[in-house]
Amino acid sequence: MKLSKRLQVVASFIPDNSSLLDVGCDHALLDIYLMKTKQNIKIIASDINPNPLKIAKDNLIKYNLQNQITLKKMDGIKEIPKSVDTIVVAGMGGILITNILQKEKLTNIKNIILAPNNDFPLVRKHLNKLGYKIIKEQLVIDNQKTYLVLKYVRGKEKINYYFGTLSNKNLETIYYYTNILNTNLHNLKKIPSKYIIKRTKIKIENKRITNFFKQK
Ligand SMILES: C[S@@+](CC[C@H](N)C(=O)[O-])C[C@H]1O[C@@H](n2cnc3c(N)ncnc32)[C@H](O)[C@@H]1O
Repeated sequence: MKLSKRLQVVASFIPDNSSLLDVGCDHALLDIYLMKTKQNIKIIASDINPNPLKIAKDNLIKYNLQNQITLKKMDGIKEIPKSVDTIVVAGMGGILITNILQKEKLTNIKNIILAPNNDFPLVRKHLNKLGYKIIKEQLVIDNQKTYLVLKYVRGKEKINYYFGTLSNKNLETIYYYTNILNTNLHNLKKIPSKYIIKRTKIKIENKRITNFFKQK
């Protein structure tokens, strides 16, 4: 079974010996891959919608894993079992991810692996406030789109929410932020000077990125 480059990175961030809840499993391909590659892993694959769960069920049967992976209809982590210690939420917008991850349901959660599609700073800020720190993060370029994958454990840290722990020398990071810079420069040429607030926000972002690249 071939996983997308993005989901391969997500899988590489999930530890052996974990009791995992995959929130928004959709096709459950990540869970099938994990069950075949990780040591001593327990998996609940969940989704809020019946159609993805039907596809997931067919895939589990196809790979003969219907007795090893539990499928559950669930909204986010509202009914998360106490036995779960690791959560993965991948392929959703940052706002939805922050709405799903609410403090009172996270008591037993040691590891959180996230792959937001957008709003990366918002996600970093939310997890920081929940009392988790980044131990790994990686930008992934897949089909000319850039995705972020993060791994959190419990802990406190002071971080820059815009860049997180990304290195200014990493190829993917250079590619991602250079694209933002170029898009912003292109937009600045088109936005009339009367839109002062919009133009100022773009200029601030560009300054932030150029400063980041100048760091040693
Ligand atoms: C784009 S798919 C991502 C699938 C997979 N996780 C991946 O990264 O490729 C998003 C899935 O999240 C599910 N979803 C959206 N909101 C949800 C929620 N509140 N709780 C659980 N699943 C949700 C959708 O039904 C959909 O199947």
